[in-house]
Amino acid sequence: MEKQLRPENLKRITTLEMAEAFIQEQIKEIKQQVREDKVLLALSGGVDSSVVAALLIKAIGTNLVCVHVNHGLLRKGEPEQVVKVFREELGANLIYVDAVDRFLDKLAGVDEPEQKRKIIGAEFIEVFADEARKQDGIKFLAQGTIYPDILESDGVKAHHNVGGLPEDLKFELVEPVKFLYKDEVRIVGKALGLPDNMVYRQPFPGPGLGVRCVGAITRDRLEAVRESDAILREEFANAGLEGKVWQYFTVVPDFKSTGIKDNKRTYEWPVVLRAVNSVDATAASIEEIPYKLLHKITERILKEVKGVNRVLYDLSPKPVATIEWE
Ligand code: XMP
Repeated sequence: MEKQLRPENLKRITTLEMAEAFIQEQIKEIKQQVREDKVLLALSGGVDSSVVAALLIKAIGTNLVCVHVNHGLLRKGEPEQVVKVFREELGANLIYVDAVDRFLDKLAGVDEPEQKRKIIGAEFIEVFADEARKQDGIKFLAQGTIYPDILESDGVKAHHNVGGLPEDLKFELVEPVKFLYKDEVRIVGKALGLPDNMVYRQPFPGPGLGVRCVGAITRDRLEAVRESDAILREEFANAGLEGKVWQYFTVVPDFKSTGIKDNKRTYEWPVVLRAVNSVDATAASIEEIPYKLLHKITERILKEVKGVNRVLYDLSPKPVATIEWE
């Protein structure tokens, strides 16, 4: 298939005014394309799908059917924020699917990283397809494809679409931000009134916390990843580092070490802190976190996160390490 290239007359969006003009133009185009028909969208809460959702809500209101799949591997507060912003504030027609047990049961005992990714991807398609089949009269599928996805691959990167939907679910695509770069998508999101922590959020892998709960995922260790990540993010925000450091998160490996709590020996997990700077994720350097901040985060994690008795800081750049641990 021939690659579609960005139209020459589409100027780089650098201001809110330019974003406004883009939004008006897209609303017109979306209305022309879909008319009175229904559009389905997998809404993860990431920047791209959120911007596409907000655009389509403006254009066609409740004829957009958003499906948010909670696979249990999202960060603390994310599913709640999607419901709050889209259903309560923007009036979206939003289907919230609690698929936590379904995913975690399938993943139980699976420790091979690529196998974990495959299960998460395949299960996502299945859950989304199940929801799609329950809907009547859907003709279109909206996707948060962005321009780098088109440039980087022959088709579209797997994590940005629900490609691989079964044969009976072939829809015409609606991809309103497919010619935009990430920074432009963020400005459009800002102009659409989406919250800053949605618009400026750090990259987050499709398999979510699943690749940070190293080895076979268990519910208790996954909770340790989620809670420690929330503490790290909160403390980075308090220190004014939000939006300044490219990516920061915690990892919990599947081994334990001894410690001491209330005069008793413990045998618990370590939490690894990771904070990297990068331009495009192909290489990454280590962010120099102030020592005081590291201490504060360590203290809070040791006090607040169940099952953890040690905190480590990962100093490995990419290469030789990758950004994620799996
Ligand atoms: P690595 O670990 O390969 O990560 O250095 C590079 C960037 O890609 C993100 N990442 C993923 N994103 N699906 C995604 O959508 C994935 O399976 C995946 N694995 C890694 C990672 O967070 C980093 O920003």
